[in-house]
Amino acid sequence: MTQNLADTTRLTASAATPAGEPRGWWRDAVIYQVYPRSFADANGDGMGDLPGVRSRLPYLRELGVDAVWLSPFYASPQADAGYDVADYRAVDPMFGSLLDADGLIRDAHALGLRIIVDLVPNHSSDQHEWFQRALREGPGSALRERYHFRPGKGETGELPPNDWESIFGGPAWTRTADPDGTPGDWYLHLFAPEQPDFNWDSPAVADEFRSILRFWLDMGVDGFRVDVAHGLVKAPGLPDLGTHDQLKLLGNDVMPFFDQDGVHEIYRAWRKILDEYPGERIAVAEAWTPTVERTANYVRPDELHQAFNFQYLGTAWDAAELRAVIDSSLAAMRPVDAPATWVLSNHDVTRHATRFANPPGGTQLRERGDRELGLRRARAATLLMLALPGSAYLYQGEELGLPDVTDLPDEVRQDPSFFRADGQDGFRDGCRVPLPWSGSTAPYGFGPTTGGPSWLPQPAEWAELSVEAQTGDPTSTLELYRSALAVRRERPELGAGREVEWLPSAPGVLAFRRGSFVCLANTTRQPVAYPTAGRLLLSSGEGVEPGLLAPDSTSWWAV
Ligand code: NOJ
Repeated sequence: MTQNLADTTRLTASAATPAGEPRGWWRDAVIYQVYPRSFADANGDGMGDLPGVRSRLPYLRELGVDAVWLSPFYASPQADAGYDVADYRAVDPMFGSLLDADGLIRDAHALGLRIIVDLVPNHSSDQHEWFQRALREGPGSALRERYHFRPGKGETGELPPNDWESIFGGPAWTRTADPDGTPGDWYLHLFAPEQPDFNWDSPAVADEFRSILRFWLDMGVDGFRVDVAHGLVKAPGLPDLGTHDQLKLLGNDVMPFFDQDGVHEIYRAWRKILDEYPGERIAVAEAWTPTVERTANYVRPDELHQAFNFQYLGTAWDAAELRAVIDSSLAAMRPVDAPATWVLSNHDVTRHATRFANPPGGTQLRERGDRELGLRRARAATLLMLALPGSAYLYQGEELGLPDVTDLPDEVRQDPSFFRADGQDGFRDGCRVPLPWSGSTAPYGFGPTTGGPSWLPQPAEWAELSVEAQTGDPTSTLELYRSALAVRRERPELGAGREVEWLPSAPGVLAFRRGSFVCLANTTRQPVAYPTAGRLLLSSGEGVEPGLLAPDSTSWWAV
């Protein structure tokens, strides 16, 4: 499929939103996550960068997505791959400059693509000027109010102030040394010790983030992905959990440090700022909550626009479970009038081609599994997702059917949680391996052949998975994504609305209608008879026979 890259009507038409026109470009947008370190390396240092992303924007336009979400590219010591920000208004030199960011935003807009940037408000880097000054100035410094500094427990303050654990493993507290070198207060970090948590009760913190929002809105970005949106407010007094089984509670309960009701006031203030700008600037919450109903609180009409649907991401390739999560997601969003969102992969979880290659359970896998089965199901799962009402998120490389790299040697791993966690969350490098673009040897066009090795090694078998290798091959996963996104663009009923009309189906099969469109997904490993009618638009499986759904496949029909 070729598209006219000069056609900018997609953006200008909806950005202008003249009075009376339906608003809400984001309600059914397909948003593509770029992980800048691993997307494209323009300067050959082995690390992706903004000029690299910029040079590949035509590829994203041709793929057919509506918007690009960029993971953090700000000044950062990279203790957590950029989710430890030292300066929120600067681009890290390893990724380029503010001028590169400006050029990227302009080029994207000229191509009809919107740009969403990551915002990390729960914590900064320990190298952030505020935190460094707070340490230097010692107890009593006003800067300490901007973080959570506390004296320790025990006779000499040798024990952490409470029993909270870091999401990356180990205590959520690290003890500081006073300016004279003696052991001093502790500070809170829900993630790595290099990521101290901000104290959102401090007006200076709230003011600073309102200003950071404006800085990037003035740069022209179309929205923000809000990191750890559920974590900003902590329960008063930072009470103990009273258990050392924090892992069991996480995701199942409201915690004293997650999903506190106070966070919503922050988002109401942010929404006012977003609404001041033309063109419908949006924010999407990374909010891990116990239920989809609590997730819906983040997207009430005066708060953020979208929230990731992690319940969907965690669902097995199983018709009954999928139907249940689709129904509950749509039901939860209805009362708040927010679009449902759907996501299968991101930079924190095992890619869905590898998840579905393994028995269900867990999003941090080390097993390669049955690759063929995983890819078949991944393709089917993607077509199912793209037929649901609402907005869908894609993670770079899934359009190539990339699996996780499950055999990275320990010495090349860089995920901080690998070094701290007890198998809890430590295998995120496997989904972060740089993309293969072209050629038969590493770095497969990720960077110039004269450059250094990529920051994580790419497997030899990725030559076959490169963009170049898949382009023009009608059986390739890349062409499946291109076709699916083209159909979705031609038939707005796929993403529109809030309902699916379920059709009767055999166990293991999902069948639903949306206007003149029907989606059929067979989640079983056997062919299933189904009285298909109408015209086949697209299928994730090969050799579609009339009246028979191929194993682990999804097909789209015009009726
Ligand atoms: C969520 C991000 O997606 C993840 O990569 C990061 O480690 C944590 N938040 C902490 O910022």
